Amino acid sequence: MGISRRQTLTGAAALGVGVPLLAACGAGSGGESSGGAPSSTPGEKLGAAADVPVGGGTILADQKIVVTQPTKGEFKAFSSICTHAGCPVTAVQDGTINCTCHGSKFSVEDGSVVNGPATKPLPEVAVTVQGGEITTA
Ligand code: FES
Repeated sequence: MGISRRQTLTGAAALGVGVPLLAACGAGSGGESSGGAPSSTPGEKLGAAADVPVGGGTILADQKIVVTQPTKGEFKAFSSICTHAGCPVTAVQDGTINCTCHGSKFSVEDGSVVNGPATKPLPEVAVTVQGGEITTA
């Protein structure tokens, strides 16, 4: 007789727990943002043209606008809200407007995507320069 019971005690505990956490970036659920149009009104002053570096730009966080000067005397403005997932862009460097949330880069010339993951350009904002002052058009 005898019921043979094997008790295996090995391996019951101490399984390695090593579930890797994916980098949570808050952008996983909603897809791309629609770009967040800047809330500017025509005639809004955006600062002195002389303050915008040639080949670069200036981010105006309050207005959610980035003003660029691709070539001397040519001014452009775009939404400063990244079209990928809605972070504000944080720098203008080496000819691109950069979002550090996930690394998207946009051209200072036309807001087009230079580097993903964004796929849509930054929406352009019409501006004029009068008396050395940049204003929304
Ligand atoms: S929000 Fe993802 S790169 Fe800008």
